Amino acid sequence: GSNTMWGGRFAAGPDAIMEAINASIGFDKRLARQDIEGSRAHAAMLAATGILRDSDAEAIREGLLTVLSEIEAGTFAFSTALEDIHMNVEARLKDLLGEPAGRLHTARSRNDQVATDFRLWVRDQIDAAIAGLEALQRALLTQAEAGADWVMPGFTHLQTAQPVTWGHHMMAYVEMFGRDASRFRDARARMNECPLGAAALAGTSFPIDRHMTAEALGFEAPCANSLDAVSDRDFALEFLSSATICAMHLSRFSEELVIWSSAQFRFVALSDRFSTGSSIMPQKKNPDAAELIRAKIGRILGANVGLLTVMKGLPLAYSKDMQEDKEQVFDAADSLMLALAAMEGMVRDMSANRPALETAAASGFSTATDLADWLVRELDMPFREAHHVTGALVKLAEDKGCDLPDLTLADMQGVNSGITEGVFDVLGVHNSIASRTSYGGTAPDQVRLQIARWKERLA
Ligand code: ARG
Repeated sequence: GSNTMWGGRFAAGPDAIMEAINASIGFDKRLARQDIEGSRAHAAMLAATGILRDSDAEAIREGLLTVLSEIEAGTFAFSTALEDIHMNVEARLKDLLGEPAGRLHTARSRNDQVATDFRLWVRDQIDAAIAGLEALQRALLTQAEAGADWVMPGFTHLQTAQPVTWGHHMMAYVEMFGRDASRFRDARARMNECPLGAAALAGTSFPIDRHMTAEALGFEAPCANSLDAVSDRDFALEFLSSATICAMHLSRFSEELVIWSSAQFRFVALSDRFSTGSSIMPQKKNPDAAELIRAKIGRILGANVGLLTVMKGLPLAYSKDMQEDKEQVFDAADSLMLALAAMEGMVRDMSANRPALETAAASGFSTATDLADWLVRELDMPFREAHHVTGALVKLAEDKGCDLPDLTLADMQGVNSGITEGVFDVLGVHNSIASRTSYGGTAPDQVRLQIARWKERLA
């Protein structure tokens, strides 16, 4: 038979393949709560503006709650023939109420309906992402506080560079995840305008009150242009690009955890709860959670590129291409929330191996820069010359198979006669980190300052 919604113009129903390519109910059922919330706000506004009788609007608003409870209880029978969540909900409302249900769609279209539902959904995800990021930051702060003065090697090119503190390294991620949360907040502020009442594309001749529905749904304002309201998905793209950057940070941290938990590094031990074993090698404890978090960016960036590609080249206003917006955003959001939760758990549970960190911090001539700085300060050497002298001392230590503090004063003076006993004071890793007192530096007091600042911000 022909369609119950637009059967007036149609003599025949769709081909089975048409139905398969056209239906979105298989995935947009995830918008049920938002769809019903939007419809309830719309019905209340239609009554307040005298477009609907109060009794009809009340019946519709009550009926919609019944539909929602059926969906939440899992007793709702979703129909592919009814294409999407909007028509599934409306058809069920008609079963329940009869004629008044048909009045709900006055002064609106599925185009503004889906744009509104999806914004509400993305807005919730943004809030969840921010909450997940803040929980992760708290876990990192706990780690940072415990090891604010534990030394570890700092790397560039993954080669030993200068000693840093464990707390400093943890706090670097607190900053990154803080910017991620602020990107989500920015996106939220920009997207928080309501498309409802744009109708199909041109607005409506009914005397609707778009400010009322916008406010009821927690938006700052109604979208100011009806064409724009139903046409753009930039809010979803901003969510995805913020998610992609966040996933990149999660991926880098995961990579470090994979390296650090190896037998060669032993910087951290991951908990049993966030590791897996091997079916053949009994000694194995694999960092699978870290690896999977590292990989999630593949799907999230994929969704970002995918939706941009769907949207490019679409003429205004709505085209059915835009139905392809949802699955990728759903998948990216699920992936991000899971990755954030797994990272938080892993960080909360992991234990840093303080002795291994300290041993590694002292190897690889990590205090060579301190030595060069000493030559500048004590012997008034130009830094370039100090760099050269220190390079010769590193070479000497390397040839002797020892570290810089193991050279004798005579060894040192053989390279530069001006060097005195005092040089040995700056060759230890603890001296090194304690000396990095510049703002944002790795000195424990600086690290503690930033920990205190973040604890206050997250309180
Ligand atoms: N299922 C559609 C989507 O997800 C809803 C909007 C349909 N609008 C239309 N004019 N066909 O985009």
